[in-house]
Amino acid sequence: MTKALRATQRPPQPDGSLDPQDWDEIRALGHRMLDDMIDYTASIREQPVWRPIPDDVRARFHATLPVAPTELADVYREFTDFIVPYATGNVHPGFMGWVHGGGTVVGMLAEMLSAGLNANLGGRDHIPIEVERQIVAWMRDLFGFPAGASGIFVTGTSMANLMAVLVARTAALGASARRHGVGEEGAQLAAYTSRAAHGCISKAMDIAGLGSDALRQVATDRQHRIDIEALRARIAQDRRAGIKPFLVVGSAGTVDIGAIDDLGALSALCREERIWFHVDGAYGALGVLSAELAPRLTGLEDADSIALDFHKWGQVPYDAGFLMVRDGERHRDAFAAPAAYLRRETRGLAAGSPWPCDLGPDLSRGFRALKTWFTLKTYGTKRLGAMITRTCSLARYLETRILAEPQLELLAPVQLNVVCFRYRAADANTVNGEIVADIQEAGIAAPSTTVLDGELAIRVAIVNHRTDTRDIDALISAVLEFGAQRASRDDGAVLAIEPSPPLAMQAAAAAPAPSSRTLSLVKPR
Ligand SMILES: Cc1ncc(COP(=O)(O)O)c(C=O)c1O
Repeated sequence: MTKALRATQRPPQPDGSLDPQDWDEIRALGHRMLDDMIDYTASIREQPVWRPIPDDVRARFHATLPVAPTELADVYREFTDFIVPYATGNVHPGFMGWVHGGGTVVGMLAEMLSAGLNANLGGRDHIPIEVERQIVAWMRDLFGFPAGASGIFVTGTSMANLMAVLVARTAALGASARRHGVGEEGAQLAAYTSRAAHGCISKAMDIAGLGSDALRQVATDRQHRIDIEALRARIAQDRRAGIKPFLVVGSAGTVDIGAIDDLGALSALCREERIWFHVDGAYGALGVLSAELAPRLTGLEDADSIALDFHKWGQVPYDAGFLMVRDGERHRDAFAAPAAYLRRETRGLAAGSPWPCDLGPDLSRGFRALKTWFTLKTYGTKRLGAMITRTCSLARYLETRILAEPQLELLAPVQLNVVCFRYRAADANTVNGEIVADIQEAGIAAPSTTVLDGELAIRVAIVNHRTDTRDIDALISAVLEFGAQRASRDDGAVLAIEPSPPLAMQAAAAAPAPSSRTLSLVKPR
């Protein structure tokens, strides 16, 4: 960094600039914010995982658009008092719902640095784009993709899957479909995935103008993997009916239970049938970093495209989705669109074509790559891989604990880092839904739910690198305790459950709306 000029040497701010008049004052407040957020992360275990939002706090966020300025310190106080305590909770080791990464302080610091640079990665010739390209090159190596493969950061895997559908669609119909629309030929296209695939694939087919009915949701086997023979039969049936199969989406880690499709068999089938093979590897693809999991992902290297999130198992702070396409030309064919005001040059700032805006719908793009670059460099793939392996071991530990409790029932095989189970009760679907809400509201843990064969399951996805056996034990105790209370009062009435002492002690941390004095985030200085 260049040495900053002292206050007296600095030129005055131009009228209308939003920069501070007093840089030292903002520096002090900035340092305090940084210290507070580091303390917040360091002491996160002492906080409840999640707190219900009181009505008066929610109401604050219905205030009208501010016309007059407010002191930054006051705005910051609102943040500490009314935003921090009511965040999602996924920084906490007890967060096990949906598929949320825990983030790291390294990623947080990098995010601050990228905000300082305020780089726009849509295009032009600057090093932030080279950082993104470096990650693309690293991912090429990691997944065994060729030199011509392209990649791009996006919000998340929902967007990456949508873009993959668009790339496969353009590959099937030709670039002219971008001008004329998908037309009659588009109406003949069909895509295939398993019944266990994420809902964003069906949404992608809808948004791509192909219709969600054109997505065939093929049966799964006992391990919740796509049934390859059923897939083969469905493709043949469609071909006989004049339909054009153009895309197969395999799952590397299904959202419900963490099943990994037989990617090798899928890639062989797609090669034989000349169909685009895309893998939704939202969280599972980074399993290649784990020596234990990598063999189960064989076939990923033969995919035509892979979607994944660094913000899940990669622990990069939200958001950091990524799409990689084996044939970079095909990728550009789907998105590149010349415009006079985006003219490319061979020198100056407008050099460096192709630009990331040629690989997706976004023109303005933030520097998501920086927090990912910091994460990969600071921890290295070996440590990240070991962390991923450990989350799977914790899932097996949870499985063992469930199998040892007669009151609990495992609802799906544990294959990765996801565990689905329930408390045995007469009205199990209602009771287990209530148990999950009770545990979340008590601030003990944050599991989520899913429905497997019509049965509501408590679903635990261990993604957070901070989670350990204490969190699993606390979850089991809470499920047993709330389950016993719910089941004994299971008369259809809506009841307010009073946690008994051990749970009440843990829930105490979830107590009412904290003031800044009780919150570790803001320390008087
Ligand atoms: C298998 C799978 N695919 C897609 C998604 C959607 O990813 P995102 O939330 O990053 O859009 C998820 C999210 O959990 C997922 O688990």
